[in-house]
Amino acid sequence: MNVHQLLSISPVVPVVTIRDALKAVPVARALEEGGVQVIEVTLRTESSLECIERIARELPSMTVLAGTVCHASQVRESLAAGAAGIVSPGLTEAIAAAVDTAGVAWLPGVATASDIMRGLALGADCFKLFPASIAGGPEALRAFAGPFPGVRFCPTGGIDRASVGRYLELGNVACVGGSWVATEKMIDASDWGAIRANAEFVATLRAAG
Ligand code: 3PG
Repeated sequence: MNVHQLLSISPVVPVVTIRDALKAVPVARALEEGGVQVIEVTLRTESSLECIERIARELPSMTVLAGTVCHASQVRESLAAGAAGIVSPGLTEAIAAAVDTAGVAWLPGVATASDIMRGLALGADCFKLFPASIAGGPEALRAFAGPFPGVRFCPTGGIDRASVGRYLELGNVACVGGSWVATEKMIDASDWGAIRANAEFVATLRAAG
């Protein structure tokens, strides 16, 4: 799957941080039951790779992305665990080389025009605007549409249920990322109903880009 295909799965990519690997499949199942078939598992806990592995193995219809990938070695580890794509908060030549070698889709993070130009030079044309609400929000994305007409974004960081619509209406936004769909609090409380309800809301949304 290429990055364009990954970003077209759902108008919102739920970004999840899971401490207990036994909760990985229930979280992903709640999302899928609500109508969302993609999940970004951040590599921020000791069980992250095991979470990716469990979801990829037990819910093959769910597309699992590895998030918070900051080092080239994590690209290989994520792929070995079953990740279908790589998401990074920024971009480095080392990760670009690793994803290129592996032939896997990569969504690198950018916050400025120079970041986008570096990313384009590395062969990317879809970027995670991060942290979106601080890096200029919808106004920055509107401004980037001028010099970078072919670029698509997945803004992430500081976006919630109330603000998601202001991003999805933009022509250069393929989808939005956010932890509000399945928060750490919901996951810790095993509140699958709340996660399913948020996924059902997400499934009603449409991205303009
Ligand atoms: C990420 O890694 O993409 C962010 O932590 C998600 O940002 P949010 O928690 O503000 O949605």
